[in-house]
Amino acid sequence: MKKMKRWKIKEVLRQGEEQDEVIIMGWVRTRRDSKGGFSFLEINDGSCLKNLQVIADHSIDSFDLISEKLHTGSCVGVTGELVQSPGKGQSVELQAKSIKVYGKADPDQYPLQKKHHSFEFLREIAHLRPRTNTFGAVMRVRNRLSYAIHNFFQGRGFVYLHTPIITTNDCEGAGEMFQVTTLDPGSIPMVGGKINYSQDFFGEKTGLTVSGQLEGEVYAMALSEIYTFGPTFRAENSNTSRHLSEFWMVEPEMAFYDLEDDMNLAEDFLRYLFKDVLEHCPEDLEFFNKQIDKTILARHQEIIDNKFERISYSEAVQLLEQSKKNFIYSVEWGSNLQSEHERYISEEVFKKPVIIYDYPEEIKPFYMKGNDDGKTVRAMDVLLPKLGEIIGGSQREDDYNVLINRMETKNLNSDDYHWYLDLRRFGSAPHAGFGLGFERLVQFVTGMENIRDVIPFPRTPKNARF
Ligand code: 4AD
Ligand code: MG
Repeated sequence: MKKMKRWKIKEVLRQGEEQDEVIIMGWVRTRRDSKGGFSFLEINDGSCLKNLQVIADHSIDSFDLISEKLHTGSCVGVTGELVQSPGKGQSVELQAKSIKVYGKADPDQYPLQKKHHSFEFLREIAHLRPRTNTFGAVMRVRNRLSYAIHNFFQGRGFVYLHTPIITTNDCEGAGEMFQVTTLDPGSIPMVGGKINYSQDFFGEKTGLTVSGQLEGEVYAMALSEIYTFGPTFRAENSNTSRHLSEFWMVEPEMAFYDLEDDMNLAEDFLRYLFKDVLEHCPEDLEFFNKQIDKTILARHQEIIDNKFERISYSEAVQLLEQSKKNFIYSVEWGSNLQSEHERYISEEVFKKPVIIYDYPEEIKPFYMKGNDDGKTVRAMDVLLPKLGEIIGGSQREDDYNVLINRMETKNLNSDDYHWYLDLRRFGSAPHAGFGLGFERLVQFVTGMENIRDVIPFPRTPKNARF
């Protein structure tokens, strides 16, 4: 007999018509038994937010046998005929002719029952949380945004570049690298009171990358426009709702761009992504707008329709000094802007995305291009209301001598960066780039409060389970 093609529930709900014979497979979300000898099953297979309602007449073959295995969480395949649904909001439901239970889920033990579970609790069962409405929707939105990121850059002729995960350079110079070693912690080889890395796997001290930028610059100096999109690691001990130890970053790097071109690209990029996700994930976004944050749909539309505000760091400091707000951290020219400051500026002052540019040289990494004032560098951060920094970028220092001096003041060993400096010795060009924190984007788009809930398996201080 010819094997019947499995329909995805999304296809059934969109294209299914009365009398179609279909087979669907998925997980039981709920079961309700009626006195008239029927059971109603809500089945979800992750293809969309909605469940398909299945009506199982208790007279179908061996229903008595399968009935005890049919509970919330069990996995089933149902063959039957589509009938018109009397229920609101769905066109068809499935009249079962036969039901196969692939895997049962004991109702006394299955942790996901039909009731409200807190996100904290769901983090404890990160292997089962994808079977909830919220996490299904988050991952579908995350998937669409990844796809849209590639579409955006591919459409502009950028080359997707895979930069290394294991590296010897600390791009951001913040000392937040996880070390990679095969040395035995019980007997570390020493010479002259220091660890002898020549005996380590790579023959020198190595770690997990904090950014693909430096290697990205190498390829931008040959292919003109590249982007990376990969995992990034930071051993910073910040337990906040916006920091992960392992996150995904998108880093475009462009030859012949100055800081203004860089800001324009960042703005176009964000606007494109919001438009794309509104168009392709309307059902999931409506769910977030209803269940998580009632302002997100309006906010996304505003971002699409309006230009971002652009102010210099000095102007931002003035705004903060003039404000009557009681900040936890005080601000003066030269200090780092904290998340409370960034949020105040975008959320309360301008009520929209803001790009802050020209930061003090001292608080930024070595590679940023200096301005003529001798005090600031061509850096820019994009801030979003409710979230704070989502993008950080800059024009890069392309002058060999200036860069060497900067490295000296920042106590960096120029020998370690000889290849990076070579880019300024041979065919140097003005160039710029930025990094977008992918999970922060997903957070903003979905309205999810905690960054741990927008990545399948979050890694944070003291937590690398699953
Ligand atoms: O501002 P950052 O540190 O910039 C860079 O790494 C540059 N090398 C980028 C470049 O110019 N190519 O990081 C960029 C973005 C931040 O704006 C933030 O959105 C995100 O990465 N980010 C994090 N996201 C989650 N958890 C963390 N611990 C993050 N640290 C940075
Ligand atoms: Mg930054």
